[in-house]
Amino acid sequence: MSTLNKITVLPGDGIGPEVIDQAVKIIEAISEKFNHKIEMCYADIGAAAIDKTGHPLPETTQAACLECDAVLLGAIGDPKYDHDPSIKVRPEQGLLALRKLLKMYANVRPIKAYDSLLDLSPLKKEKIQGVDFVIYRELTGGIYFGKKGLKQGGKKAFDTCVYSKKEIKRIAIPAFEAAQKRRKKLTLVDKANVMETSRLWRSVVQELASKYQDVEVDYLYVDNAAMQVILNPSRFDVILCSNMFGDIISDESSVIAGSIGLLPSSSFGKKHCMFEPVHGSYPQAAGTDRANPIATILSAAMMFEHFDMNEESNAIKAAVNRCVAERILTEDLNPRIQTSCSELGDIIYALINDDLVDFNSKKMDIAKSVII
Ligand code: IPM
Ligand code: MN
Repeated sequence: MSTLNKITVLPGDGIGPEVIDQAVKIIEAISEKFNHKIEMCYADIGAAAIDKTGHPLPETTQAACLECDAVLLGAIGDPKYDHDPSIKVRPEQGLLALRKLLKMYANVRPIKAYDSLLDLSPLKKEKIQGVDFVIYRELTGGIYFGKKGLKQGGKKAFDTCVYSKKEIKRIAIPAFEAAQKRRKKLTLVDKANVMETSRLWRSVVQELASKYQDVEVDYLYVDNAAMQVILNPSRFDVILCSNMFGDIISDESSVIAGSIGLLPSSSFGKKHCMFEPVHGSYPQAAGTDRANPIATILSAAMMFEHFDMNEESNAIKAAVNRCVAERILTEDLNPRIQTSCSELGDIIYALINDDLVDFNSKKMDIAKSVII
């Protein structure tokens, strides 16, 4: 594995630049604390890139992402593209093209319920307490990337879902390995009662299961899994699924944590890796300093972990955990307390620098701003 010397930062759209600013601040704090020299260079993607160049993933961005050690991404998407189905160039194409270009077939999305936030989830406390699972989502295949198009002059449209054994195996193996290091349980989420591709997933996973005998494997249809994530989330340890099922299950699972603004992710292939929050560009909040930076900051923690820089990663996680435990939160989780995106970034920064004076004074400010 390479060392982490150079990061390409892609702020993207909506709240992307704001949450990225906080994560960059935290990476700088870590670099200082642990004496690393990490270069960060910025490039455009998504609607921001279309506005400047006409392309959602300009060549300069492609080159910057191919030659760095890791990519850190904010968010993609702009409502001006959402309501016109005839538009040919869309921001999301930039992200999909980047995942494909960097051959990042695995996407890892940890889900956990924080004790201090249990009452902020709409789900019952006793159902979500202690929930801790991780989704392994296939990221460069399936219906996202199959042949698609319009027929009969636009009267018909089609998307195709294609998977090869090889594509399934290369995401299933890291999922099994993760299960071995965790509670040794893997659930394949599919639709094998209907889809041929899902039956191929089952056969590949069954074959692999005999090699990972310490891992207990079970299989759930995605419709049932969607229900179990809400009814009985503590049954899950590692969830393995195709591209689209993983997309859907991960947003749904964010309800357990209390906000999608808390969920980080890492993506990797054989060579490249990228770190991005699970949430979207939240255009309604763009430019208002209200977004939750934690998902992006924790994505930076996953980046350090990916490079075996565990102390660095743990320092970030400890600072975030402290804020979460003391309920220093942005408005998505606590509308009564007005901690802004950048303030929360500053507090996490201070905690990483062991600046408890700064931390405590911010806490006092926040306590004073609570409307009773
Ligand atoms: C995600 C997003 C993307 C996806 C969109 C923006 C293309 O929803 O990363 O979960 O569907 O993969
Ligand atoms: Mn999604």
